Amino acid sequence: MGVESALGRLTRDLAIDPGSSNTRVFLQGKGVVVDEPSVVTLQRDTGQIVAVGEEARAMVGRTPGSMVTTRPLKDGAIANYKVAEGMLQAFIAKAMARGLVKPRIAVCVPSNLDDVSRRSFHESARAAGAREVVLLPSSMSAALGCGLPVLDPRGTMVVDIGGGLTEAAVFSLGGIVQAHTVAVGGDALDRAIVAHVSERYGLTLSEQMAEIAKREAGRATEGSRRSKTVAVRGRDRESGMPRQIELNSEHLYAAIAPLLDQIVEAIRHTLSNTPPELAGDILDGGLVLCGGGARLAGMERMIRSKTGLPCVLAENPEHCVAFGAGATLDHPELMERVAIV
Ligand SMILES: Nc1ncnc2c1ncn2[C@@H]1O[C@H](COP(=O)(O)OP(=O)(O)OP(=O)(O)O)[C@@H](O)[C@H]1O
Ligand SMILES: [Mg+2]
Repeated sequence: MGVESALGRLTRDLAIDPGSSNTRVFLQGKGVVVDEPSVVTLQRDTGQIVAVGEEARAMVGRTPGSMVTTRPLKDGAIANYKVAEGMLQAFIAKAMARGLVKPRIAVCVPSNLDDVSRRSFHESARAAGAREVVLLPSSMSAALGCGLPVLDPRGTMVVDIGGGLTEAAVFSLGGIVQAHTVAVGGDALDRAIVAHVSERYGLTLSEQMAEIAKREAGRATEGSRRSKTVAVRGRDRESGMPRQIELNSEHLYAAIAPLLDQIVEAIRHTLSNTPPELAGDILDGGLVLCGGGARLAGMERMIRSKTGLPCVLAENPEHCVAFGAGATLDHPELMERVAIV
């Protein structure tokens, strides 16, 4: 037995999907054991971390002047190194099985991430207690997590609509053939709703309120008979007083439609750069949607009608990346094959 495999018996390895909205940690042999918002509350003057994850999110918009709530990961990269490191450390500590041997940690990152950010993820995971750090492309991890046969000589496609990013990617023979990323995800939809409501109704909403409206009544298609209504509260721009209005699916669609077009454009762009044989495979087999943003009502139908491709929503769209990366922990040869070097 080699030293590595002997160590492997004394510890459980981890796979981590640090998303701009949520971080998931997969513990080998267990599954996803941490799934929390990528949010940190800091002491404003000292920068000391007061709370992370769920606890920090509950404080958003409710902190006194002495504290500030931030999201240290932005669009798949590290926006604030020190805070991101503290947050990852807290999540890893939460997930880690107590043991004498440090784990190997697989970290999922967007395939177009620059070298500086890659190094930051490496160092953060080391600082958080990794014996060894392996970077995996998120899109490939998502495809593995969706159960796509990415090692086959056949084109398959995944579109991950996250909080900060949408990444469309085509795979064949264990490699990424073509990928395209746009900085449009669920959070951009929330911001578009805030801007639209401010302009049309003179009401300032928080992004959290816009997200609630999106989840309850948002739709990716126009003129649906299944339009829903949601009550939202904000602050009147003129009087400064709290006010409530009702929004329906049509209002929300008007706010987000231009961004939905950008998501479709990312898919088209990826396919138009894919060699014809593989593109033909995708025309037959279709694409799989994952990421929390893909849960927007009508998303599959909209993508199907705008691209002409078969399209399905993954079973557990938010966890595909962590599942796929987690699966490589038990298959070192697979991990080696898909890892970013
Ligand atoms: N039911 C729903 N309808 C619409 N949007 C949803 C729904 N559920 C979650 N979302 C959106 O999904 C997004 C979060 O998705 P996810 O957790 O996959 O992001 P992430 O992995 O943290 O981000 P990224 O991959 O871009 O770094 C949020 O913008 C959230 O509003
Ligand atoms: Mg993600």
